[in-house]
Amino acid sequence: MPQIMAANWKMFKTRAESVAMIEALGTAVDAVPQGRSILIFVPFPSIADAVAAIPASLPLEIGAQNFYPAAEGAFTGEVSPAMLRDVGATWVLTGHSERRHILGESNEFVEQKTAYALNDGFKVVLCVGERLEERESGGLADVLRAQLDCLTRLPQVADSTTFAVAYEPVWAIGTGKVAGPEEIVEAHALVRALLVEKMGDKGKDVAILYGGSVKPDNTGAIMGLDNVDGVLVGGASLQAESFSKIVMAS
Ligand code: PGA
Repeated sequence: MPQIMAANWKMFKTRAESVAMIEALGTAVDAVPQGRSILIFVPFPSIADAVAAIPASLPLEIGAQNFYPAAEGAFTGEVSPAMLRDVGATWVLTGHSERRHILGESNEFVEQKTAYALNDGFKVVLCVGERLEERESGGLADVLRAQLDCLTRLPQVADSTTFAVAYEPVWAIGTGKVAGPEEIVEAHALVRALLVEKMGDKGKDVAILYGGSVKPDNTGAIMGLDNVDGVLVGGASLQAESFSKIVMAS
């Protein structure tokens, strides 16, 4: 199963800082394990420079953290997938908890965006995950089922080469509280079951990434868990020193 080590830089780094980090990553990473690729979701203004800075030695692609699902139009402040393609992005992120909970994106809008991006030729990481109160009230399975209901209706083009899911418990994002191994295994098994239920055999090979306080010293253990095919990293992806260790962790 191919593995994806993904960075989400959120609203951090100028163009110069983005380029410096990618160059430093190229120096710090000597051997990416076989079958593993790197993906960095950078802020819009840095995308073109980040793409131009990709070191030849790294299996690295650049993604965008957001977009609006339309070709063009009167959508002030928004950016279209065509514009992102023009600056070299090949992946997009949908459903991140910060967009769901700070910016109010619903499951329906996340579905619309995911379908649009796939139909438009982008690769997509769709993020899902429960809030603390949902987990504590036993609502994990229901939340994941609602967030992944869209899998039934994804465009045909969605498969393991174009689509991945990131499980990120909201209570573990940016809090330093990593989910325990049993919690990760339980949630990833639920995601895998939903992928297969809704996408058939194709769902068996779709990568499931774990996100939420991933650090160099916990990556190896997390990657060793059942149904964990990669990580999505916020805070620890901002320095080459820590992200390079995550990329190479075994
Ligand atoms: P974190 O963020 O690694 O800082 O917890 C993860 C994410 O939001 O994708």
